[in-house]
Amino acid sequence: MKFFLLITLLSLCPLSVKASIDDAKAAALAKQNACLGCHAIDKKIVGPSLQAIAKKYASDPNASAFLKNKILKGGSGSWGVVPMPANAKLSDAELSLLVGWILRGAPSTN
Ligand code: HEC
Repeated sequence: MKFFLLITLLSLCPLSVKASIDDAKAAALAKQNACLGCHAIDKKIVGPSLQAIAKKYASDPNASAFLKNKILKGGSGSWGVVPMPANAKLSDAELSLLVGWILRGAPSTN
């Protein structure tokens, strides 16, 4: 049993290291692309808080694909009538990083 726990912990380690590197990259991307001008981690500004987004999509298996496309193209209707502008410059990899981070509840990295 102890052995099993140790193996489980060891095998989770690289994952959590990777997640925290991804969190740092995503937080920097969110800053560079002015996402944080409209979205705060824990309160509504123009757009919903990133934690509210994580909560809304917590049990949605299609959230990742849906949100990547939504960030890329912009639009309204999920939270109200105010639209999000398109972010057409973001690459697929950048969109994945941002959405992964947001769905983890946008953990801060400092
Ligand atoms: C000008 C303000 C503004 C900027 C800049 C902005 N957003 Fe948004 N965002 C919004 C608004 C408003 C909504 C709500 C849209 C809706 O109701 O469908 C939203 C919604 C979202 C959602 C949830 C979408 C849904 O359908 O539930 C995500 C995820 C998101 N934004 C991520 C980002 C990211 C990442 C960036 C930066 C690349 C960004 N936003 C930049 C205003 C903004």
